Amino acid sequence: MSYKRSIAVQVPAKVNLQLSVGGRRDDGFHELASIYLAVSCFDSVTLTPAEELRVTVSGAGAGAVPADESNIAAQAVKLLAEERGIHPGVHVHLDKRIPVQGGMAGGSADAAGALVGCNALWNLGISRQGLVSLGAELGSDVPFSVLGGAAYGSGRGERLTSLPTGVTYHWVFATADFGLSTPEVFAEQERRRRDAGLPWAADAIPSPRMSQKLVDALVDGNIAALAEGLSNDLEPVAMSMRPELARTFKAGTSAGALAGILCGSGATVGFLVSDRREAETVAEQLLASGTCTSAHIAHGPVPGPEAEEAITNGESS
Ligand code: C5P
Repeated sequence: MSYKRSIAVQVPAKVNLQLSVGGRRDDGFHELASIYLAVSCFDSVTLTPAEELRVTVSGAGAGAVPADESNIAAQAVKLLAEERGIHPGVHVHLDKRIPVQGGMAGGSADAAGALVGCNALWNLGISRQGLVSLGAELGSDVPFSVLGGAAYGSGRGERLTSLPTGVTYHWVFATADFGLSTPEVFAEQERRRRDAGLPWAADAIPSPRMSQKLVDALVDGNIAALAEGLSNDLEPVAMSMRPELARTFKAGTSAGALAGILCGSGATVGFLVSDRREAETVAEQLLASGTCTSAHIAHGPVPGPEAEEAITNGESS
């Protein structure tokens, strides 16, 4: 019997506590001020040596995730392989629990898992900071998915400063029965700005700034101030595209959540709650309201992905 090494990586989702969108740059990306929090809703990325690069996907929403080389996790494997002159012969298996097209960086998490996992599988010894930098080549949220914890992001979201907080916050994430496309939500925001005669280009709008008040609340464990300060510029845009999201917000806050916030560009809505017990009550009531398809109970910050190594029966891959 032959044996193979395999690497498994659990990678957390994120919620943006602040997402302030500036103007569009010449490269098509928008200047952002973003406060990221990694939360305990995980995709599992398993990497096993194989003849050629291949991708399989299981779990919630798997049907909507490309199971081929266009998958961002496969792109991450190829990037690292090209960088180091290695043949990218890896079977990447993604087990999805992070909502697909939910604004919680599910695809970025898979790419981060592939970077961290291949670094271990191929014994490359690349530092966490090195992987963060490589992640920026794959997508704006990939660097944070590699880093985890809590962080402030500027530029297009990829320039990160970690924010130390010893406080744990409890959340419920309500998933929709539809996804929202990030480029479409950004494009809609720009259309609204243009229609209102407002500036939209990066050189015509000052770069957005981190909310110090929100950072202080986060670091100090001031949950009331955190609830009050949550803000996402894409929320009104996504709600104009999908007015039914208003019912989800109402259901969560009526159930006792301290505040609701759209996750990234949507369509998941995150609810900040006072404690774990409250999370269960809010999740149950959200489900009973029929305004979401599932309600995930989670907490954050949680650390970034770590590789776990196993020896498997080679016939299983
Ligand atoms: O970087 P990522 O591939 O995740 O971005 C997806 C899309 O979201 C981009 O193509 C762009 O349309 C939009 N985006 C943006 N400004 C950012 C981040 C993303 O316009 N800072």
